[in-house]
Amino acid sequence: VKSILGRPDGGAGLSGQKVRISGRVKTGREQGKGTFAFLEVNDGSCLVNLQVMVDASVYDLSKLVPTGTSVVVDGYLKIPPEGKRTKQKIELSVEKVVFVGTVDKDYPIHKTDLSLKYLRDYTHLRSRTNLFAAVESIRDELEKATHGFFGEEDFLKIRTPIITTSDCEGAGEMFQVTTLMSKPVLPVKDGRIDYSQDFFGRKAFLTVSGQLQLEISACSHRSAYTFGPTFRAENSHTSRHLAEFSMVEAELTEADLEDDMNCAEAYVKYMCEWLLEKCDDAMEFMAKNADEGCIERLKSVAMTPFERVTYTEAIELLEKAVSQGKVFENHVEWGIDLASEHERYLTEVVFQKPVVVYNYPKGIKAFYMRVNDDGKTVAAMDVLVPKVGELIGGSQREERYEVIKERMEEMGLPTEPYEWYLDLRRLGTVKHSGFGLGFERMVLFVTGMDNIRDVTPFPRYPGRADL
Ligand code: 4AD
Ligand code: MG
Repeated sequence: VKSILGRPDGGAGLSGQKVRISGRVKTGREQGKGTFAFLEVNDGSCLVNLQVMVDASVYDLSKLVPTGTSVVVDGYLKIPPEGKRTKQKIELSVEKVVFVGTVDKDYPIHKTDLSLKYLRDYTHLRSRTNLFAAVESIRDELEKATHGFFGEEDFLKIRTPIITTSDCEGAGEMFQVTTLMSKPVLPVKDGRIDYSQDFFGRKAFLTVSGQLQLEISACSHRSAYTFGPTFRAENSHTSRHLAEFSMVEAELTEADLEDDMNCAEAYVKYMCEWLLEKCDDAMEFMAKNADEGCIERLKSVAMTPFERVTYTEAIELLEKAVSQGKVFENHVEWGIDLASEHERYLTEVVFQKPVVVYNYPKGIKAFYMRVNDDGKTVAAMDVLVPKVGELIGGSQREERYEVIKERMEEMGLPTEPYEWYLDLRRLGTVKHSGFGLGFERMVLFVTGMDNIRDVTPFPRYPGRADL
């Protein structure tokens, strides 16, 4: 359909050609007292439907018109009579119905104004709506843009493992892997499921981040990136958290925090430019149906430098707001982890654009971040964006063996599982930095959708792992 309706002449020049269309009926109506029917057919190639006309002598119309029916039809393209029903320059007149996948009467998504919450209960059907089709194609383009950006920058693409023994973020928010041997399916001991059968006698987990393994590549002297699923066992019910999400992680060789911020900013800008160039119909659909300002936002993000403030400056700005009467639910003082309301205040009220906050207090950040000369802060950075809050987390890594060892001891982390990681410092250390971008949050940001559960086809969150 895209190759027909997407032509500069709207398809008019194809009049008379015979084509086969396979797609799904969006709406169908019998006309002329049941002598013919018009079907709006979508084949997934674009968000526009092709108008299809079927005569009652060709097929039982009542089987074709219900929303959701799958059809394969052969016919001739013809220019519709002037002034009639459609804005389209071309329609299909059906000669033969090759296949029909009928729908039962209880088709749950035949209406057009269904709530996103309702649609979450129909994960297997909601991709049929234009909104989900648009979001999924934007997501797909963002993925292509990611490979475009890191490919152009000559990063090595690494596939980091999903099963691991290390807890990169040290937050203990990990799902443990258990082994289900052959029968009985779930090992039962004293009437209870025995979870002690873990990863072949070892405790292993689903990864929270591919960073530590990515550092291996970067320390072999070439910047690298990874793009894969990551898992967090945080019992979060927010519109910004998933239990399984995709993360794009980059690790830059011979790079300090500033290089890291530059790369993260360039990557986000590249994705925005990519969408502006390659994704106009889906973005226009989002502008009409979800967030009016989304295209303008892409342009502005692509063109305007991000604001950069230290954590200390960010706290001062928030304290100033409090002194002027702004009420935050979470108390503001140096040393706190910024809450989502603080991040949104900085990006939406103070700067009205993405903000990179850097040099965070050591006490609220992970063990691997490089300690600054002040001894109080670490070379960490978060990229915060309007509406979403934290989009990217990154840092310069602590490359000094003695310093990181001491930091791990101070934090009470066992060094044994991280011996290999310490080896990277002991055996030819390298200055390096990196970041991770929450991919679903990027989709949220560009589309203007409100809930992270609606920007990934199969969201995983407390209570939801079906399909
Ligand atoms: O800030 P985080 O925890 O950083 C890391 O995992 C580092 N190891 C990354 C690195 O330096 N290579 O997570 C990175 C990003 C966050 O900024 C956020 O966008 C996203 O991942 N994120 C989540 N997205 C959805 N659901 C969750 N539960 C998320 N937790 C983090
Ligand atoms: Mg973070």
